[in-house]
Amino acid sequence: MVREIIGPIPRGNDLHDREELIRNMWNIVKTQDVFLVGPRRYGKSGVMCKMYDKPEDRFKVMFIDCEKLEDPYEFFASLLVEVLKNKSMISKIKDCTDSIPLLPEAMFNKVKENISEIELTQIKIKLRDTIERQWKEESLRCIKELDKLANKSNETILFLLDEFPSLLKHMIDNRKYAETRLFLEFFRSIRLDLNLGNVRFIIAGSRNIYTISRNIPQLLLDNKEISEDEITSFSLTHVFNDFRKEMIEPFDTKTAKKFIVELFESDNITVKTDIVDKVLNVASAVPYFIQLLISEIKRHHDGDITLEAVEKIYRERILGPTCRFYFEYYEERLREYGTLNEKCAKAIVVELSKAGKLTRDELYNIFILNAKKKDASMFDNLMSDLEMDFYIKLDSDNKYSFASKILSDWWLRWHTVSRNR
Ligand SMILES: Nc1ncnc2c1ncn2[C@@H]1O[C@H](COP(=O)(O)OP(=O)(O)OP(=O)(O)O)[C@@H](O)[C@H]1O
Ligand SMILES: [Mg+2]
Repeated sequence: MVREIIGPIPRGNDLHDREELIRNMWNIVKTQDVFLVGPRRYGKSGVMCKMYDKPEDRFKVMFIDCEKLEDPYEFFASLLVEVLKNKSMISKIKDCTDSIPLLPEAMFNKVKENISEIELTQIKIKLRDTIERQWKEESLRCIKELDKLANKSNETILFLLDEFPSLLKHMIDNRKYAETRLFLEFFRSIRLDLNLGNVRFIIAGSRNIYTISRNIPQLLLDNKEISEDEITSFSLTHVFNDFRKEMIEPFDTKTAKKFIVELFESDNITVKTDIVDKVLNVASAVPYFIQLLISEIKRHHDGDITLEAVEKIYRERILGPTCRFYFEYYEERLREYGTLNEKCAKAIVVELSKAGKLTRDELYNIFILNAKKKDASMFDNLMSDLEMDFYIKLDSDNKYSFASKILSDWWLRWHTVSRNR
């Protein structure tokens, strides 16, 4: 049975459902790499951790959190350390140290059956130094050797790269353009030169990789890292051409209802179907919103859990100051759009939260008013970012609305207040 968990990665029994998605992912990685795309807090890391915790037969799974990594050297050192942590991999690699020169023999003498975290950190630091010298050549050679090794034993090595877009963002923010070029070249070469059969990658992250990478080719050109004729080769679509996009959606109605019932039951509370429907309606079947709402209901209902009590808790607590920080990320994210885009994006979502639904033309007018210029392609990019970041969605009647009720209500409440101050 699931337990209440708000924020951390849900593992083991705490991860509700997602079985079909996980099954699909296992099928796809047999032949292709994957982008796991989805809004903040939909359970991307939970899904990847499940694949790590319960690997399918003939898969060796490595999980790398890229959030704190700063450059390609650290990235590859982390990747190798994950390989070293895998006991069955160590013995295989030991037999072929000659062909993986990145792992000097002296280092292997340190690799024992039970390698400690401290030793792993030391190895990581040493590896970084070794790697930095000829990063691209050596890292590709190493991946190729791992592929051969896995092929020999009829296995697949699967690297789960969580928060991958953050690593790209860190490099760009720190003006590490040469490193960014190297890093993208690495992934391009994996696709174009190596033709890997037994090494696969799944990439996910809470940041939108499309927004982050849009300006990278131009930045590399402006900083003389690439030439004009190379610019298209560094676009996201070109570098990650063969990655399959898998979307993580809200729960379907049946799964969401079961989740709601179980979350109440985990505190020995039985609720009637009208309460289940109400929670589902407010939280729009988003697992994190369901968790948050039920947690607040459990703590603050006074007597029976009635529809009125749920509505009151929703208005006063979920949309109130005590829960404000749970949603602040949605405001912060818009800052990453750049000053002018942020201003236009805020105006668009505020107006949408007030109106409920608006046509594309109406939203373009709001954009023009705030950007103080007509720029259809800038507007197109902005709308695509807002959709990809799941603030807004295009409905079947061809009008835009907020992607979820909670966010719409929250935006309306806090933006009206801050504008009146
Ligand atoms: N399948 C699920 N079962 C239970 N809780 C879930 C599930 N999916 C998401 N959650 C809720 O969302 C929170 C975040 O989950 P997780 O870290 O897996 O999401 P994420 O998509 O990786 O988030 P982020 O975009 O912030 O990286 C959990 O703490 C939990 O409250
Ligand atoms: Mg995550």
